Parts: sequence; structure tokens; C-alpha cells
Amino acid sequence: MERCTLSAPAKINLHLEIIGDRPDGYHELAMVMQSVALCDRLELRANGLEQFRVHCNTPGVPGDRTNLALRAADLMAQQYPESYHNLGGVDIRLKKMIPIAAGLAGGSADAAAVLVGLNLLWNLGLTQPELWELGAQLGSDIPFCISGGTALASSRGEEITPLPSMEGLSVVLAKYRSLAVSTPWAYKTFRERFSHTYATGESEQEQRRHSLHAGPMMSALLNHDKADIGRLLYNDLEKVVLPEFPSVAQLRQVMSDGDVLGAMMSGSGPTVFALTETPEQAQALCDHVKHEIPDDDLALWVTEFCPTGIVING
Ligand code: C5P
Repeated sequence: MERCTLSAPAKINLHLEIIGDRPDGYHELAMVMQSVALCDRLELRANGLEQFRVHCNTPGVPGDRTNLALRAADLMAQQYPESYHNLGGVDIRLKKMIPIAAGLAGGSADAAAVLVGLNLLWNLGLTQPELWELGAQLGSDIPFCISGGTALASSRGEEITPLPSMEGLSVVLAKYRSLAVSTPWAYKTFRERFSHTYATGESEQEQRRHSLHAGPMMSALLNHDKADIGRLLYNDLEKVVLPEFPSVAQLRQVMSDGDVLGAMMSGSGPTVFALTETPEQAQALCDHVKHEIPDDDLALWVTEFCPTGIVING
């Protein structure tokens, strides 16, 4: 096989709870992740060279090794040197639809697609857990991006427990184009201000995980109770990002005031999402937000929950 095309969905966090510190400097998390149908598109084409190249027209997407998609390709070459040597590298054409530095795991989704694509092109036969393990070496969100749908994520965020997929909810995403939030800054600031709330011992951390895994959000998901899912949205990082970025706090307020099930910031932001029962309500919310915040810098997308991670289209 010489070529494949893939779709790489964005994610939102329905629950993001920071439960403690980790010895590796990261945070111990308890999260519910959800894929949405806003997707990047990738084409991987064998180039007959011992080299990987990325082509993307979107400003701000790096063509060098800071691009997570190239780092994913390098990792595959390092892990499977014979395949790399025999079958060669690929040119990665990236059509970026997911906004960058947005809290939607766009870069992680692209890296996940490269792992899945090279597994196919090099005929490696890696299982999903094997791909998860490779993804975890590159970034905490990549394992989720591989399998997608609805899932619990714990540890650094890389330990995935898939849940029955939750479909039929519409989503509005809103982001100021010129605004980016640094994820390391958000976590560092959270630690500075809230480390006194961290669970210290393993049993206290386990207790916090258990409160999510056996709690109301889990029941809402298992019962497909859309109203409760909207009501129970939670993100610890709002506590540091919203005070620092008043425009994001205002956007969240305007979205919450619409006819929505709930609204919240995704990941470390600055994207705010709102859940609605129908696509018509999502469109009406966009109109409401544009009316309340008439700013050309504000971009809006209507999308929906999506039951998959990376999909191979051909
Ligand atoms: O894993 P990833 O590269 O996506 O994480 C980006 C940054 O977010 C890390 O460098 C770290 O500062 C912070 N982070 C954290 N705890 C996590 C995940 C991310 O502190 N569980």
C-alpha cells in the first residue's frame, strides 16, 4: 500500500479534574473525553525516501520537528527501523480544520493519525493498546485521539477506558482566532494556586477517581441523559484560565445564557463549547453569540458528538 487518507477528530473534555501531582512533574487527572465531528484530514503517501515531510497551508502549523505529526513519524521509524528502511518515509499532507492551540487536541489528533496510517502502510499489525502505548510517549491526549468516541482518561490522561458511545448531541465551538493558551502555563498556574487541594496519598487519589467513575456524570452518560451531561460539565482549568482571559469568561457566560444544555471551556482553552439537543438550537446559539459579541476575531463551528477516533478513509 502506497497511500492512505485519514480523518482525525477533535476532542472536548466533558470532565477535567486535576487530582494530584505526579513524580514525573505531570498531573494525575480524572477526565471524560468526547470526540467531535470537526476533523483534520491527512494523506500519507510513500515517498521512497528515508525521510518524512509535512505539507500544510495553515499558518502557524510548523514544518519542522516541533510538529507532533512528524514526531509521531520519527517515533515509528525509531521503533520499526526495518520497515522504515525497506518501505521508506511518507509525505504527510495535512488539511487543518481543527483550530490550533485551542484545547481541542488538534496536534494530538494529527499525531494519532500518523501512528494509525504508518501502522497500515508498513503493514505492522499493531493492536490498539500497542498504538496507545506509542502515542503516550509523545503526548497525554494522543491515546484518546487514536480510539476516540466517549472515554474515561486517567493517569496523565493517557490511560483510556472506552465508554459506550454517546451520540446525538450537537456542539458549538467558539474561539477567538488570535488567542492561544499555553497548556504548560495553565497546569503550572493551577499548581501554584491550588496544590493545597491535591489528593496526596494513592488511596486519596483513588477515592477521587472513584467519585468520577461511580458518580453522576457516569450515570448521565450510561443513561444517555443529555440534560444531566450538560448540567454536570466540569473543568478545573477554568479556575486559572477564565480569570486571566476575561474575554473567554465573557464568551462562556454568553454561551451559557443561550438555549443550551451546558457550556464550558475545553481542556486548557481558550475554546468554549456548548452542548445543545439539536443542530437547529446549535445554529440559533451561534446567531445569539454573534449578536452579543460582534467581533470578527471570534470563530464559531457547529459540530456534533462523534463515536470514533482516527478513521481510515481509503
Ligand atoms: O502531554 P502533553 O505534552 O500534551 O502535555 C502538555 C503539558 O501540559 C505538559 O508539559 C505539562 O506541563 C501539562 N500537563 C500536566 N499534567 C498532565 C498533562 C499535561 O501537567 N496530566
